Amino acid sequence: MVTKVVDLRSDTVTKPSDAMRAAMAAADVDDDVLGADPTAQRFEAEMARIMGKEAALFVPSGTMANLVSVLVHCDTRGSEIILGDTSHIHIYENGGISSLGGVHPKTLPNNPDGTMDIDKIVAAIRHQDGALYYPTTRLICLENTHANCGGKCLSVEYTDKVGEVAKSHGLKLHIDGARIFNASVALGVPVHRLVRAADSVSVCLSKGLGAPVGSVIVGSKAFIDKAKIVRKTLGGGMRQVGILCAAAYVGVRDTVGKLADDHRKAKVLAEGLKKIKQFTVDLTSVETNMVFFDITDPRISPDKLCQVLEQRNVLAMPASSKSVRLVIHYQISDTDVQYALTCIEKVVEEILSGNVKLEHLTNGTTANSYGH
Ligand SMILES: Cc1ncc(COP(=O)(O)O)c(C=O)c1O
Repeated sequence: MVTKVVDLRSDTVTKPSDAMRAAMAAADVDDDVLGADPTAQRFEAEMARIMGKEAALFVPSGTMANLVSVLVHCDTRGSEIILGDTSHIHIYENGGISSLGGVHPKTLPNNPDGTMDIDKIVAAIRHQDGALYYPTTRLICLENTHANCGGKCLSVEYTDKVGEVAKSHGLKLHIDGARIFNASVALGVPVHRLVRAADSVSVCLSKGLGAPVGSVIVGSKAFIDKAKIVRKTLGGGMRQVGILCAAAYVGVRDTVGKLADDHRKAKVLAEGLKKIKQFTVDLTSVETNMVFFDITDPRISPDKLCQVLEQRNVLAMPASSKSVRLVIHYQISDTDVQYALTCIEKVVEEILSGNVKLEHLTNGTTANSYGH
């Protein structure tokens, strides 16, 4: 008998649907490094159309999508980018922009809603007068939704304003849109409108959209031509990649329409957690598919809670030394949400009664790798 696991660690944990597997099996493929894979070409053209940009490029991961984008915009060593201090690019991508691209990060505080203050962005742009000693600002990066800020959405108005700042200073704007479809659905704004101000956007296919592998980068044709070269340099040129694009296409076709339901379930989950008196949850902060809650009772650590939950087949990730992150995706049902809530409640009682043993977490998390 297969035991059901309610996996709330991330929206990256989905298994390919039957329709994805069928599409992979049937995909018409050829060598994409030679520019000949018809399924990859169709998928990239479709993503460019949906995102309202001239061209698109499939890459293996969100990390590579961001890295390629930054390296194309900052093709001179000593370039500087302005980005949030809790952004994924800054925290969780191995500093690749610096180690591989010679790009200097200028971080600004991310507000709880995922924004950076516009006046701080303007003030951070390096002045030409200091060209002898300053790095050169070339790019601003936003993240939408903002994962470390709880999956918050950046509005179209804010994104447009940052785009205006970038344009008026001769800079480019990149959006890490790993979950841009979640933002688009939550805001009720078409995704192409949401990213209109951006010169490039990276979109993860293997998060809320449920594909097994991959991201796309979108931008102008000239940008994507350069991105293709950088992707190859980084080892991201893949041969019969239509196999992966076929699954990703099904994800985009079938899953975007389910994101609103993910967001509804996240709210249900948050409301249930709020009733547990050892936790605090800010219900207004649940805008998309992520729920963060703080544990206020010092006898319950996030590691301990997640470890005991795992014994009941509910997987969750510690987000900090006092908080836990739960993420909804389309393979989580209403019943799963209720099961998780019941287990969490029981586990809290067990821990408080001193009735549990703490072993190693086996869900891929350590105390120092919160919430990637
Ligand atoms: C906001 C954001 N950007 C980029 C990435 C990187 O994606 P990948 O894990 O595919 O490299 C992630 C992954 O969790 C993410 O949450």
